Amino acid sequence: MEKMEILSSLRITKTVLAILSLVLLSNIRVQAQGILLLPSEKSSQRDLSTSQIGEGDTTNAHDSILKFVNSSNFPNRVSFPRGFLFGAGTSAAQIEGGSHEGGRGLGIFDELFSGEDKFATKIEHYKRYKEDVQHLKNLGVNSYRMSICWNRVIPDGTLKGGINKEGINFYNNLINELLNNGIEPFVTILHLDYPLALQKKFGGFLNHSIVKHFKDYSELLFKTFGDRVKHWATLNEPEVQVVYESVDNVGNWSMESCQTTKVCTEIYTELHILLIAHATASKLYKSKFQAIQKGEIGITISSESYVPYSSKLEDVDAAQRLTDFTWGWVLEPLFHGDYPQIMRKLVGKRLPKFTKNEKEMLKGSIDFIGINYYSSHYVRHEPNRTKVTGGYFDALANLEDINAEGKTLGYWDQYGGTYVYPEGLYNFLLYLNKKYKNSKIYINENGIPSIKIPNPLNDEHRTAFIAAHINATKSAIDDGVNVRGYFAWAAFDTFDFYDGYSHNMGLYHVDFNDCLKRVPTNTAKWYKKYLTHDLDQ
Ligand SMILES: *[C@@H]1O[C@H](CO)[C@@H](O)[C@H](O)[C@H]1NC(C)=O
Ligand SMILES: *[C@@H]1O[C@H](CO)[C@@H](O)[C@H](O)[C@H]1NC(C)=O
Ligand SMILES: *[C@@H]1O[C@H](CO)[C@@H](O)[C@H](O)[C@H]1NC(C)=O
Ligand SMILES: *[C@@H]1O[C@H](CO)[C@@H](O)[C@H](O)[C@H]1NC(C)=O
Ligand SMILES: *[C@@H]1O[C@H](CO)[C@@H](O)[C@H](O)[C@H]1NC(C)=O
Repeated sequence: MEKMEILSSLRITKTVLAILSLVLLSNIRVQAQGILLLPSEKSSQRDLSTSQIGEGDTTNAHDSILKFVNSSNFPNRVSFPRGFLFGAGTSAAQIEGGSHEGGRGLGIFDELFSGEDKFATKIEHYKRYKEDVQHLKNLGVNSYRMSICWNRVIPDGTLKGGINKEGINFYNNLINELLNNGIEPFVTILHLDYPLALQKKFGGFLNHSIVKHFKDYSELLFKTFGDRVKHWATLNEPEVQVVYESVDNVGNWSMESCQTTKVCTEIYTELHILLIAHATASKLYKSKFQAIQKGEIGITISSESYVPYSSKLEDVDAAQRLTDFTWGWVLEPLFHGDYPQIMRKLVGKRLPKFTKNEKEMLKGSIDFIGINYYSSHYVRHEPNRTKVTGGYFDALANLEDINAEGKTLGYWDQYGGTYVYPEGLYNFLLYLNKKYKNSKIYINENGIPSIKIPNPLNDEHRTAFIAAHINATKSAIDDGVNVRGYFAWAAFDTFDFYDGYSHNMGLYHVDFNDCLKRVPTNTAKWYKKYLTHDLDQ
């Protein structure tokens, strides 16, 4: 399944990368995340470092965290603010299946992954949604992050092509089922996949014409479901989506091709149009629906802490630059109406410009920032563009796992194949809070795969991961950050765009050898106990 995990919820693991040697894409994925920590700020930040918990030693780290989780020092459920959402997430393209059922049109992934085993059926959520809502209820969550499949409700992407009643019915039923079971839907309008017909017709988000269709689609959702859906995210990780979608030629993107193909222009064009589409839908919601429906609308981005590789000024600058090139790229227009100055300088003519009207429309177009957090990286200055290994050649920066002093960020989790660094989440939250003035924030994704455990149900490493990040979230709240929700990724084993079904991201394990039976992992049992225990008292 060597395609791209890049998309979504898809964290990348070192091991997999090495195996697949998709170093390029991987780096892009990993790179679409981050934050700068100046050394001077760092010392004043709360020390969440993992050095006391056996750095580099997975087992010691887990034991130590799990002991802490059992202690009275672990922040309990009721210590979170009133109305805090504790949930789990999925996306339509990763679980629904039923690709050719119920009048659904095809999405871009249907073509991309047409050769992949079980892609058209996934875990059959389309058929088994009622059962799945019972699993969610059993998990004790009060919210569920899901996405709507554009081509299920509007098969060719355009109103002219017609609305699919069966698709509308499916989401009406799902939403009602959730609400009847005490679970609030948190809905992403576009989670990476979109109608294939629109891509064929005019290149998808490379053509401004798509904005009108995205607006029509969004309006249909607000009109049809907005009486019950109170949390809307227009897009998921657009900064990752564009890098991924422009690189059709997986693994074939070198500096050379950047100069000889249009890729290094197209990623900027595509993100530009996505931002305009976002702002158009948001404006519509705010002007026509919000006062009556009383919901909120925002956007979800990737995230990670970008920590300078050394204390040298060039590395400190590189970490800041990459921060601007990833999150500043999306958030600066949404808060201030334009791209970061450093991007305008380094990207030059390839970076499109917003009109005056667009700037006005962009500013204030989000009620919240959603972030997806998995892990963090060091950032090292790289002056030679041809040696920039990630996608962001223009940022002149490379990601590193080990810094100049031979240290890593957090501990290596051998069962998940990733570095675990909850401090990076804490620091990113503080960074957003400071930069974007106490904005409302949701942690929309956070989790770790199970790639090297003999029994997928014995996922204690995931319990440790999730608990440590809940702890970091609470620390940030205690320090004044306006976090309003935490969603574990994922509710069920999903089709990962990079890893297929091999990564077992689910709190519910799905057994492909036993009729797609959903079985709660030990982490699911722990999460349920955590979420429901002290509420019962
Ligand atoms: C934490 O408590 C559970 C019982 O609630 C127990 O099974 C587990 O062994 C404990 N873990 C540690 C590390 O103390
Ligand atoms: C965008 O699509 C329209 C058709 O809707 C077409 O006329 C136009 O040439 C396209 N523009 C670009 C830049 O591809
Ligand atoms: C990689 O890109 C170059 C030019 O951009 C092209 O000639 C070559 O066929 C591509 N290779 C693969 C494996 O797609
Ligand atoms: C940049 O790196 C490439 C190899 O990736 C090398 O051929 C070239 O000479 C380097 N340029 C400079 C200015 O160091
Ligand atoms: C939990 O958070 C506190 C700070 O609020 C920190 O001191 C502690 O190290 C954290 N524990 C873990 C296991 O991450």
